[in-house]
Amino acid sequence: MENTILVTGGAGFIGSNFILQRMERDSASIVNLDKLTYAGNLHNLEAITNERRYEFVHGDIADRSLVRGLLERRKPRAIVHFAAESHVDRSIRGPEDFIRTNVDGTFALLEEVRAYWEVLVDQERADFRFLHVSTDEVYGSLGPSDPAFSESTPYAPNSPYAASKAASDHFVRAYHHTYGLPVLTTNCSNNYGRFQFPEKLIPLVILNARDGKPLPVYGDGQNVRDWLYVADHCEAIANVLTRGRVGETYNIGGWNEKRNIDIVETICDMVDEMAGSRGASRRNLITFVKDRPGHDRRYAMDATKIERELDWRPVETFESGIRKTVRWYLENEEWVRDVTSGSYRQWIETHYSS
Ligand code: NAD
Ligand code: TYD
Repeated sequence: MENTILVTGGAGFIGSNFILQRMERDSASIVNLDKLTYAGNLHNLEAITNERRYEFVHGDIADRSLVRGLLERRKPRAIVHFAAESHVDRSIRGPEDFIRTNVDGTFALLEEVRAYWEVLVDQERADFRFLHVSTDEVYGSLGPSDPAFSESTPYAPNSPYAASKAASDHFVRAYHHTYGLPVLTTNCSNNYGRFQFPEKLIPLVILNARDGKPLPVYGDGQNVRDWLYVADHCEAIANVLTRGRVGETYNIGGWNEKRNIDIVETICDMVDEMAGSRGASRRNLITFVKDRPGHDRRYAMDATKIERELDWRPVETFESGIRKTVRWYLENEEWVRDVTSGSYRQWIETHYSS
């Protein structure tokens, strides 16, 4: 086994932040296996493209012979599994890709990893880790005064996306219980930060606000999410990978519940401040639109376990994190231009036209 981590989905939002952070802070080599769907973007990783410790492999986690060959060739000591279809609205319009990648893809990966792991020698078998990156959405929706989700909250996924992630979580759990595969699962709340594809609320609102376009808020805007700055999520994953107890799940959150409307107003005010407002507040662009079908009302995370066991807490406050994020999107026009062409425009037109 080599000091190598196989990251899946490393060209996406969180995966690319994770790879860049770990290349800076750790000595492990990283192999990034990514299919480069609409959400994958190699520009995110330009800073390390020529690093000896980094390798990109273009491929699908469901391609078993490719995964087998890769495991044999690179002999990783850990897998960090980010690859997924990740957008709830897309899962509502077309769930099939979510089953193909999140369920079938995770299953294929687990099967190949199990075969690789089973023939490792004793200490290597014990040291190996499969870390599965999941979401708070598997727990369903909370009422206004319900306690936050804990690791023992029963699963109650409501969207096709959440159902596909829940299914994959269950497979990961079963591979530990049945075969003894040394797995770890993290369930994290909504992330925000650089490199997030602008179909998601925060980057969508920043860019529309910049351009003076309508800011679509679903329903009454009172839905609540817990928000975590992406670098904090990546640091939490690294902690779980090195010190998490095998077979356990860890909830990761920002202790930061916000209503959507408050997020959108905060972004309006920041864009006004950073890009100039010519006297007209961008809050005037807020447009309430038809609600998402089955829209979960509230998510909240109890991240006590990871704090108690692994001494992890977010470093960034929402105020500092959102400021960095707004600035990043305003300053990185080329990145934005690159991702907002072609298929992106098509999505925005289809999804928001009605
Ligand atoms: P993303 O959509 O930005 O990136 C997903 C990446 O996976 C892309 O690079 C894509 O090309 C790749 N991919 C998709 N299908 C693939 C396949 N079959 N084989 C190989 N690569 C494939 O997603 P993200 O926001 O970075 O999320 C990463 C992970 O974290 C997902 O598993 C998601 O469920 C989970 N998560 C996300 C959030 C969030 O707020 N974004 C919160 C909690 C958990
Ligand atoms: P999103 O970023 O899609 O994340 P998730 O659905 O995984 O939580 O959405 C965050 C919240 O913002 C969610 O309650 C839906 C809402 N939302 C809008 O109000 N308008 C939008 O255009 C989008 C994309 C999301």
